[in-house]
Amino acid sequence: MERVRADSSPTELRKHLFYETSHSPSLADLVGYEKAKDIIDFCFIANPYYPTREMLEDLKENFPNLIKSYPSSSSITSQSNLAAVLHVNPDHLIIGNGATELIVLINTTLIERIAVPVPTFGEYIEKLKDQRDAELFTLRPEENYKLDLTAYLAWVHQRGLKALLVINPGNPTGQLFSLDEMIEFLERAKDMELVIVDESFIDFAGDTIPSLLQVAEQFSNLLLVRSMSKHCGVPGLRLGYCYSGNLYALMFAGSMTRCERLRGLRYILREPISFCSKLKAA
Ligand SMILES: Cc1ncc(COP(=O)(O)O)c(C=O)c1O
Repeated sequence: MERVRADSSPTELRKHLFYETSHSPSLADLVGYEKAKDIIDFCFIANPYYPTREMLEDLKENFPNLIKSYPSSSSITSQSNLAAVLHVNPDHLIIGNGATELIVLINTTLIERIAVPVPTFGEYIEKLKDQRDAELFTLRPEENYKLDLTAYLAWVHQRGLKALLVINPGNPTGQLFSLDEMIEFLERAKDMELVIVDESFIDFAGDTIPSLLQVAEQFSNLLLVRSMSKHCGVPGLRLGYCYSGNLYALMFAGSMTRCERLRGLRYILREPISFCSKLKAA
């Protein structure tokens, strides 16, 4: 991409900002690394208190080791470490290079048609095999783009869709559904094959984080997506994960790649019973 001059006019910057999607082009692409350090990116919320100075020092000290050694090709260690922090079963986690990588995998392996409330984080639509596979539930400016979960689910049912997305808190609105509201919604959405709940901003939502992680085992069609870019303040490290409480997903833990595990998840979400009997027979 052609570099934009730091003294470009607002109109010129707008043109460059919007001809690619989501976080592309990056600030560094736009104005260069040096200048990017002095600019506040209002495109997303990042925790200003993380990483702490001590953490950065630690990273700096270990950086030569990090870049001079191969990382493990198995994600078991990182899964266990993350699971210990989240108090969840490590085998239910799939770690990715940012939530975006996982969204791309989900979109290309799990989705045939999906309901998406808009406006929203563009990757859920743009990274589908065919953008027409997204059925758009349009939020209205006169209602401050508020999502009504009951109306949304009724619309999803009416259109015969089997997969849907909820981002909680919403991007770009910040609209937050409580844990009780989400549980009630999931109870009513049990006939869906796949319910994706993106909780990338949930860590900003209160001292007690109202995440569905703690109840995910109760909903076999639930796939949680969480970015670590925002609350850990490290978008450059590209860290994110998916979590499914689906017991059958456990059987896919281990040697499979993320892509294979997601493909497996698609199969078991749809056909848990035949999958299980095949597994028993094997
Ligand atoms: C709702 C939502 N999900 C996921 C992402 C992607 O996060 P990551 O930086 O982990 O790829 C974003 C990024 O802005 C987002 O807004």
